Amino acid sequence: MTQARAYTNIALIKYWGKSDITWNLPTSSSIGLTLDQLYTDTRVDLTDDLKQDQFILDGQLASNPRIIKVLDFVRQQTGSHKYAKITSENHVPNSAGLASSASAFAAFALAASDSYGLPTDRPSLSRLARLGSGSASRSVYGGFSIWYQGYDHQSSFAQSILDPVDFGIRVIDVLTDKKTKKIPSSQGMQRAQSSPDYSNWLSQSKMQIREMIAAIKNKDIEKIGLIAERNAMGMHALNRSADKPFDYFAGETWAVINDIHRLYHAGIPAFATIDAGPNVKVITDSRSCQKVADQLKNFGEILIQKPGPGVVHV
Ligand code: ADP
Ligand code: DP6
Ligand code: CO
Repeated sequence: MTQARAYTNIALIKYWGKSDITWNLPTSSSIGLTLDQLYTDTRVDLTDDLKQDQFILDGQLASNPRIIKVLDFVRQQTGSHKYAKITSENHVPNSAGLASSASAFAAFALAASDSYGLPTDRPSLSRLARLGSGSASRSVYGGFSIWYQGYDHQSSFAQSILDPVDFGIRVIDVLTDKKTKKIPSSQGMQRAQSSPDYSNWLSQSKMQIREMIAAIKNKDIEKIGLIAERNAMGMHALNRSADKPFDYFAGETWAVINDIHRLYHAGIPAFATIDAGPNVKVITDSRSCQKVADQLKNFGEILIQKPGPGVVHV
């Protein structure tokens, strides 16, 4: 038996499209920051008694084709024919745009690799996590990481940019809505790829990756925030200009963003980023985070996060 814990990560430069669905290869590289509050614990037990894999999420028997896909790959790699019992506990709302798939598959990658005897170096874990969910490739690492898009299973994995040294960056989640999203990330990005602006977004993203790496290395929170906000707005514009347009923003989303802009113009470092859901995340610093939180608390539950650790055994 082995059990692992992994934390969610927020994308500063988003992954929003696949070039290969089977291997979960992305159309662009992306950059994430692993956080310290929301996480998943997953345990894998190999048994001779089971006739199929069994997945239990938050105490309930569940079916999860992605878990089976990853396990089939692991069995093919190791030659094992054993089935597994997977027990997972989310300390993050599921499918609400808070990256449960990232913490889930990073934790699962370590627990499964350990149980079946696959290598547990970080690049190997990152590849396996990616097979389950792209954003999970980054949650293998603490702090800032970059997922290089690559061109096949071997070349598409994340690496650390800067370990969770705390230079004061904070991410505030404004939880206006914890309900399950109607359009899962994988479907959202597939639809976004039909936007006439998609190729332009990809070339913007390439430039932003370089700018973001420099900003992180310089520990420049304002630059990180400005680039991340522009990248996120571009991603959501793709959704609105897709063949079948859609939008993850809700009315409250704009209200929160407008308040963040007001704070920025009043001299407080505060920048918005949004994933596949209506909840806004604010990039700010340790000096301003309490003030920002106080300003936004009327919109819903507030969670102040710091850079967090990579995947570990528990
Ligand atoms: P999110 O914004 O939460 O990442 P996604 O649409 O990307 O939402 O992913 C949700 C998917 O992740 C769902 O298919 C869900 O079953 C799966 N998932 C969530 N938590 C776990 C877990 N602990 N173990 C395995 N899969 C999980
Ligand atoms: C908007 O990694 O959840 O959060 O690979 O299909 O599981 P799948 O998608 P997922 O997509 C994350 C989308 C995003 C941006 C990001 O985290 O990079
Ligand atoms: Co996800």
